[in-house]
Amino acid sequence: MTILLLGADGQLGYELHRAFAPFGNVHPYTISGQLPGAQRCGQLDFAVPGALSALVTQLRPSLILNAVAHTAVDRAEDEPALARRINAEAVAELAAAASIVNAKLVHYSTDYVFGGEGDRPWREDDATAPLGVYGVTKLEGEHAVRASGCRHIVIRSAWVYASRGQNFLRTALKLATERQELRVVHDQVGSPTPARWLATVTALMHAKKPDANGTWHVVGDGQCSWFQFASAIYSEALAAKIIDRAPRLVGITSSEYPSKAKRPSYSRLDTGRLAADFGLQLPDWRVGLREVIGELAEAK
Ligand SMILES: NC(=O)c1ccc[n+]([C@@H]2O[C@H](COP(=O)([O-])OP(=O)(O)OC[C@H]3O[C@@H](n4cnc5c(N)ncnc54)[C@H](OP(=O)(O)O)[C@@H]3O)[C@@H](O)[C@H]2O)c1
Repeated sequence: MTILLLGADGQLGYELHRAFAPFGNVHPYTISGQLPGAQRCGQLDFAVPGALSALVTQLRPSLILNAVAHTAVDRAEDEPALARRINAEAVAELAAAASIVNAKLVHYSTDYVFGGEGDRPWREDDATAPLGVYGVTKLEGEHAVRASGCRHIVIRSAWVYASRGQNFLRTALKLATERQELRVVHDQVGSPTPARWLATVTALMHAKKPDANGTWHVVGDGQCSWFQFASAIYSEALAAKIIDRAPRLVGITSSEYPSKAKRPSYSRLDTGRLAADFGLQLPDWRVGLREVIGELAEAK
């Protein structure tokens, strides 16, 4: 099977490369034409109109994994046209091309499509109400996939992190050595999800039901605030001896941490549909954290 992997150097793309290797011939593409470790791969920029259609019609993959996104949530407020191009317009082009060559498209979306004021985990068919450019454009991307008529899976996840790439865990570990005190938001709640888990579940979904079509939520089980996540990161990292000291954590409200983009205060996603349709459920987020910290400890 020919598999086209877009965004192979992102947190998720890197893990998808490993997870989908047993399914066939994976063709990785990145914006730089390089993979982590300076290995060469295909080069493709989502900002260039026509590039995706040309690639898909030439390669004719049977499966496309799209891990590309404009994920800089605050920067998206300043460059909405670029965010829309990458998160929505390019996705529409990709989905149309997938439809022409009859490829199945696996596309990722986010908890940020929801309004963020909730009292129970968001279900796949709950009303969407994104708060900023990132969420709006990711939702447009979802709509474009569904409207194209291509075979597709849309997977919404949240609070994705890994031992590599840019994420909350890596920032927290870096700041451990630089700061005596860290102010962390305690009134935003979600479910941390290792990129490796997300990639593994995607592969299992494909293996179990290759013809499945629709939208599913995939996140680590349980929930925490950013403050609780930071606190757990430091206690696991100290225990694994990745750091030898941790800053004092001070819980603050979102209003005390002004940012360009408004973040949802309640981001937990309901994963009942994943369990019902695929018999899959991710473990508690603390198990994932221990795994990722373990990876970092091994690499040290
Ligand atoms: N991170 C999260 O917390 C989170 C939460 C929910 C959902 N998601 C979704 O999960 C998916 C994967 O996200 P991630 O966490 O793996 O993000 P990531 O690490 O930021 O990866 C995004 C990838 O997109 C690439 N990219 C950006 N602009 C591009 C362009 N113009 N052309 C080609 N490639 C481009 C980036 O390349 P460069 O690094 O070289 O720019 C990077 O490899 C996305 O759909 C995201 O919306 C993420």
